[in-house]
Amino acid sequence: MNFPDEIKRIRAFWNRFPEQVKRLSIALVIFIVVLIPVRNMLVPPGFGDLGHYRAASLQENSAQNIHYAGRTVCIDCHDDIVSVNKKGYHRDVACETCHGPSAAHVDDPDGNSLRVPRDRGYCPLCHEYISSRPTGFPQIVSASHNPLEPCITCHNPHDPVPPETPKECRACHAEIARTKSVSYHVHVECVRCHDTPEEHKLDPRAVRPSKPMTREFCGGCHSEDAPATNGISRIDMETHEPRYVCWQCHYPHLPEAR
Ligand code: HEC
Ligand code: HEC
Ligand code: HEC
Ligand code: HEC
Ligand code: HEC
Ligand code: HEC
Ligand code: HEC
Ligand code: HEC
Repeated sequence: MNFPDEIKRIRAFWNRFPEQVKRLSIALVIFIVVLIPVRNMLVPPGFGDLGHYRAASLQENSAQNIHYAGRTVCIDCHDDIVSVNKKGYHRDVACETCHGPSAAHVDDPDGNSLRVPRDRGYCPLCHEYISSRPTGFPQIVSASHNPLEPCITCHNPHDPVPPETPKECRACHAEIARTKSVSYHVHVECVRCHDTPEEHKLDPRAVRPSKPMTREFCGGCHSEDAPATNGISRIDMETHEPRYVCWQCHYPHLPEAR
């Protein structure tokens, strides 16, 4: 056997390949040579003993501490809340979603009290308006939905029916009400100037309250011959800008003359 000839032939064979293929095959050889010993270091012990998974993970997971109790046990001690909750809108929200993992609490209620999320920041985690939430899911914009008050002053967290639509004028006409509350007319009731049928509060655009139509309406309190009431300032209806209605100059919800 002619040794140098053999090498020459291998060399010629090798040189027939383009440069990229040569480099790639060198890399491949190094990879395989390194992989064989390293593979045994990477595959965890026990893998493959009982099939294509790590047999020991069964014991390891079953040995972990149990944190969650499940909702069925709560009924043993909180049957009042469970029975309210299971009929309400939050029936599909598990107790432990809001109160946190409860296994320790179930074992020893007095030694392990639970989280009670009373603060206003909590409920918007699920109810803040986000356009990608499912259509029809009850959502609010917390910046404008009764700001500053905790949600649970109006909604029972275990049975969150939306309270009835409020009937005070203030609930829907908040800006006017706030304006009036710092004005001279603070003690003049809305309904003194607006006759408001009850249906307006249910179907406000269809049934509208009255609005003052004449100068004499305001004159009922402010004219010189209006019935005496302490401290109300009077004008002479004949001479006080008679060509205009009063609210062209005085905003009735914030009447300032000075
Ligand atoms: C073995 C009876 C028992 C079981 C089961 C039980 N609790 Fe309680 N729980 C109590 C007692 C007693 C208290 C009052 C202890 C206290 O005031 O610290 C309490 C208080 C609470 C409180 C109020 C904590 C506070 O600080 O105001 C919450 C919330 C609560 N439990 C939730 C749950 C949930 C959720 C479950 C089911 C996973 C549950 N409990 C299961 C007995 C139990
Ligand atoms: C949406 C969140 C939420 C869910 C779901 C929820 N809770 Fe509560 N829970 C609260 C809040 C908030 C309070 C505080 C109520 C308060 O202070 O008026 C509370 C209070 C409690 C209390 C204290 C008693 C009291 O009146 O102060 C107990 C006990 C309790 N929850 C048990 C449960 C059980 C049992 C379940 C499941 C059936 C459950 N909760 C589901 C939010 C929740
Ligand atoms: C883990 C998510 C989650 C949290 C946290 C949560 N909710 Fe809910 N809420 C729901 C689900 C789910 C419904 C039922 C929606 C449905 O019926 O389509 C619901 C329904 C409601 C409704 C009924 C709206 C209607 O008319 O249909 C109100 C009100 C409400 N929640 C208030 C609250 C308040 C207040 C809190 C805080 C104490 C709270 N939610 C915390 C998931 C949540
Ligand atoms: C001052 C009382 C009050 C407070 C505080 C309050 N709400 Fe409401 N909420 C209402 C009333 C009244 C309604 C029903 C009328 C309406 O839609 O405005 C309602 C309706 C809802 C609805 C149903 C909306 C729908 O489209 O069906 C959700 C959800 C809700 N509130 C969640 C919350 C959350 C979350 C908070 C705290 C961040 C909160 N509310 C604070 C009074 C309140
Ligand atoms: C449930 C919400 C709601 C309540 C409660 C409510 N309003 Fe209204 N009100 C509306 C809406 C909505 C409109 C129509 C606004 C528009 O179309 O520009 C309106 C319009 C009005 C108007 C204007 C009518 C017009 O023709 O321009 C007056 C005045 C008025 N309300 C007075 C009152 C008074 C006074 C109360 C309390 C006794 C009251 N409202 C309670 C929602 C309400
Ligand atoms: C002193 C009488 C008076 C009182 C009190 C009063 N209003 Fe008015 N309101 C008027 C007059 C006058 C107008 C018509 C203004 C116009 O046409 O420019 C009016 C207009 C309105 C309008 C129509 C929209 C607008 O801003 O012009 C609404 C809504 C309204 N009032 C609601 C209320 C509410 C709610 C209250 C109680 C918080 C109230 N008003 C108290 C006299 C009054
Ligand atoms: C129920 C009686 C009553 C009616 C009706 C009434 N006001 Fe007044 N008004 C008052 C009272 C009370 C004050 C506060 C005391 C005062 O400064 O005169 C006041 C204050 C004022 C002031 C400020 C006076 C000042 O001293 O600076 C003006 C302007 C005014 N009203 C305009 C009107 C106009 C315009 C109307 C008709 C839309 C009207 N008022 C209807 C009771 C009334
Ligand atoms: C063209 C604008 C204009 C009209 C219209 C108008 N006012 Fe005035 N009003 C004023 C001005 C400006 C003042 C402050 C200067 C003054 O006292 O004359 C005033 C002052 C007042 C005062 C306070 C008087 C005092 O002594 O402090 C009252 C009350 C008043 N107006 C009520 C009314 C009533 C009621 C009407 C409708 C009958 C009305 N105004 C129509 C412009 C107007």
